[in-house]
Amino acid sequence: MANENKAREELYKELDVIIEQWKDEPGGLLPIMQNAQEIIGCVDEEVQNYISDKTGIPVSTIYGVATFYSLFTLEPNGKYTIGICLGTACYVRGSQLVYDELSKQLGVEGGRTTGDGLFTLTATRCIGCCGLAPAMTVNGDVYGRVKPEDVKGIIEKYRNIG
Ligand code: FES
Repeated sequence: MANENKAREELYKELDVIIEQWKDEPGGLLPIMQNAQEIIGCVDEEVQNYISDKTGIPVSTIYGVATFYSLFTLEPNGKYTIGICLGTACYVRGSQLVYDELSKQLGVEGGRTTGDGLFTLTATRCIGCCGLAPAMTVNGDVYGRVKPEDVKGIIEKYRNIG
């Protein structure tokens, strides 16, 4: 996950080391992009352009890789990442309904971030809290036995913190 406390310039310096290591290797683009995802937290347009400038690889190629592999995210995560578990134990206890309600309340599909940059909605696999099914997380906070009607209050809590 990206270090949100560091400015992008600092993160690019870390990425430069990786780019130097891989830019002349065949197939080096993928490890460069994986590291960019790891260091910066996403491979958005700015990151794609940066990699292109440094490697000479066309942005269209980089964009193609970024959209092909699901491990890449194309926009920065919001301040709060909401993970709703769609693992088996949670699913059979209705986590899909919780997910749908989250999507409705936030106005975004899974993997997307709200326009105000506050929330990113994600579906996760089992997070090891099956006894609390259905489980969801907001950054490090775990919520158990979540019902669709709980969603609004949970979101409001984080909106109020800002
Ligand atoms: S299946 Fe959801 S926490 Fe295990």
